[in-house]
Amino acid sequence: MDPTAEVGAHPGGDAVEPWLTLAQGYERARAREDSLDRLVEWPAQREILGDVTGLSVLDVGCGNGAKLAELVAAGATACVGLDISGNFPPAPPTGMELVRGDLSELERVPELAGRTFDRIMFLQSIGYASDPVRTLRSARATLADDGFLLVTRTHPIRYAVERSEQNGTTLGEEYFSTGRFTYRHRGWNDQVALTKRAYTVSDLLNIFSTAGLWIEHASEPQLPEDARRRYPHKQAWMDRHLGILIFKLRPLPGR
Ligand SMILES: C[S@@+](CC[C@H](N)C(=O)[O-])C[C@H]1O[C@@H](n2cnc3c(N)ncnc32)[C@H](O)[C@@H]1O
Repeated sequence: MDPTAEVGAHPGGDAVEPWLTLAQGYERARAREDSLDRLVEWPAQREILGDVTGLSVLDVGCGNGAKLAELVAAGATACVGLDISGNFPPAPPTGMELVRGDLSELERVPELAGRTFDRIMFLQSIGYASDPVRTLRSARATLADDGFLLVTRTHPIRYAVERSEQNGTTLGEEYFSTGRFTYRHRGWNDQVALTKRAYTVSDLLNIFSTAGLWIEHASEPQLPEDARRRYPHKQAWMDRHLGILIFKLRPLPGR
């Protein structure tokens, strides 16, 4: 795939281009002992996935595939990770395949044709879809019987807090603004600007129902007590920015 062909090809979604340079900085930050992904997000995501023995998993926007590799080590089989960055290890573990592709066109990824999966994950990646409803519908079509989707997104309040501080506006003004905004993640690579589409919690819920999915479970995971004590700077961050939203989604019958 020609990565430059993707630039500007996502009018509705968050800008994808930065990930072509951001991928390594992101994975370095994620691997840190005090990263919120390690302390809060992945443990909460893992708990919802439960026992994965013998289950096939599709990880959409998988980064370097490290989470999928953990699931394979825990017994998952026939797993596929898909990411646009192509920042993959040279030899992924047996039982998983890493594919460079675009989540905005899942139905056109040859490696997914005719396949079904017991678990499909969009961990901090659905925002990059040019049309999230289309992407979720495609994912739903590849879900095995009794399968579910695990979707996470940054709490929209987080961005509203940052923008209200930057712009001297109120939380409500920023939360309900519909424009795009740009931010730099200092922990990943402060040279790379990320452009995002603003969204509210209602926007997310409406995307799920329009895609024919219902929420079996939702959560807003927080730091466990021992991590609060060990990493007070992370608790201070969570107190201001809330963290992420996690959704376990199943297909609505008959849709
Ligand atoms: C915030 S990272 C999350 C990575 C991983 N899912 C995790 O939980 O650590 C977002 C990921 O989405 C990928 N991504 C962005 N746009 C994409 C697209 N159009 N198609 C596939 N992957 C994309 C990025 O390359 C990046 O790996």
